[in-house]
Amino acid sequence: MNILLTGGAGYIGSHTAVELINEGHEVIVVDNYSNSSPEIISRIGKVAGRLAAYDADAGDEEKMRQVFLKHKIDAVVHFAGYKAVAESVQQPLKYYENNLSSLIATLKTMKAFGVDTIIFSSSATVYGTSQTAPFDEGMGTGCTNPYGWTKLMCEQVLRDVAKAETGFTAVILRYFNPVGAHESGLLGEDPKGIPNNLMPYIQQVASGKLGKLSIFGNDYDTKDGTGIRDYIHVVDLAKGHVKALQYAQEHRGMEVFNLGTGKGYSVLEVVRAFERANGVEIPYQITARRKGDVAESYADVSKAQVVLGWKAGKTLEDMCRDAWNWQKQNPEGYKNSGRMQRQAKGL
Ligand code: UD1
Repeated sequence: MNILLTGGAGYIGSHTAVELINEGHEVIVVDNYSNSSPEIISRIGKVAGRLAAYDADAGDEEKMRQVFLKHKIDAVVHFAGYKAVAESVQQPLKYYENNLSSLIATLKTMKAFGVDTIIFSSSATVYGTSQTAPFDEGMGTGCTNPYGWTKLMCEQVLRDVAKAETGFTAVILRYFNPVGAHESGLLGEDPKGIPNNLMPYIQQVASGKLGKLSIFGNDYDTKDGTGIRDYIHVVDLAKGHVKALQYAQEHRGMEVFNLGTGKGYSVLEVVRAFERANGVEIPYQITARRKGDVAESYADVSKAQVVLGWKAGKTLEDMCRDAWNWQKQNPEGYKNSGRMQRQAKGL
């Protein structure tokens, strides 16, 4: 199939591109590189083989139209969107405008070209703070920040389009905590500035770029007092998209799936696992809780297992090993990675 990945140069998009190419699909990436770089397209090429890429904003209907004119698209995986929680609190309009308009422009272009299948990147953040883990897809939703609300609103847009259009398929994937990197060390997470998320922060402490990790609270009602999350290897997550596309070929309407491992690890367990897997030391201090954090978040993964036939296979040790391998090989992320090959075409 010809599969369009909006935001396909991002962390999850790039790993998904690799898995789709490995499965024999043609991959077409649309990315404005606002939080990524054309270098990533060359890296995907090195790992998996040929793909097409366009430097364009998924919210730009005219540019999207041109991409759909050039390629006969069979399905879309929509990753494009801003994702920094704290920034979304400071600049809510930027988030609502960008994240909603890119989905709407994508859906309008799909409709104009008769493309009826979309896979959407959602987040476990939509379970909010009032549910008790494990979270299952039937539970109520609610958010604590504009980023989360954009995900929930996009889900609603898709639900309504699926109701209105017979033959339309939307598969919503609620990601838990994606971490790790491709085992080649060529693809990984490249946060801008000081990382907000746990694993990239640990990676930069390990490399000496940051002095020590702050653990946000050790007074939660959990096994060791620190927050519990469902960390999932980004390659397992990418494979979940391949399964979701297979499912979408045979089903109409909208369906939601959690993508996680179903296992929760505490912050201290992740620190210890990283130290053990890589033979490094992670100095840390305990600080106050971070606003908006829940004590425990992990998935009920039975629906994805039964309906999609997908299960995460990689362990926390694999995640820590691959994260460190990527960090060591790319201390500055995709920057300074030799000559930037601008393989991506402008429109
Ligand atoms: C965060 C976002 C979530 C988003 C997800 C993307 C918040 C409140 N939530 O989830 O909306 O979908 O990232 O991956 O920002 N921790 C530390 N020290 C750190 C960083 C994190 O102790 O320097 C702890 C946190 O308190 C938490 C755990 O590590 O218990 C995981 O944090 P993080 O990686 O930021 O992910 P989430 O908070 O689950």
